[in-house]
Amino acid sequence: MIKAVYPGSFDPVTNGHLDIINRASKILDYVTVAILENPRKQPMFTVNERLEMLKRITCEFDNVGVEYYHGLLVDYVSARQTSIIIKGLRAISDFEFEFQMALINRKLNPKIETLFMMTNDRCSFLSSSIIKEVAGLGGDISGMVPPQVYDMIMAKMV
Ligand code: PNS
Repeated sequence: MIKAVYPGSFDPVTNGHLDIINRASKILDYVTVAILENPRKQPMFTVNERLEMLKRITCEFDNVGVEYYHGLLVDYVSARQTSIIIKGLRAISDFEFEFQMALINRKLNPKIETLFMMTNDRCSFLSSSIIKEVAGLGGDISGMVPPQVYDMIMAKMV
């Protein structure tokens, strides 16, 4: 059974994240979408809110689970009894940082491999940060996030 962890802050989940979850679930036996802390980011949504949005959008997949972990990604991946991290790559601009993260994670635990999936071209311009910025300024973000997430973002805007 090939299991993998798809980690991120998911603050909020975008259609780009959902596309990676969908495609990963088709090539792997089981995918755990894991919310981890990114010390460089101040989240808009609480961990429970992000768990809720991920559970809502993944309920249709029978081989996808959702969890939160506070700590090092490599420790979580080992605890999940897998050795595969799935990451999405949008553009060259993502590469440098993702490369650094993949190498530090490998240094911390050489048994762990990071596999990158190229974004769907329809989602390549999407990021959680840009969605929060557009929504905060009253722009239309429908079509950029799943409908359940759209409602949760709009609820924050009132
Ligand atoms: O969606 P993001 O913010 O790009 O996800 C980054 C995340 C949460 C995967 C990364 O910050 C992370 O792995 N955090 C857990 C702490 C850790 O293991 N840090 C060392 C590797 S960077």
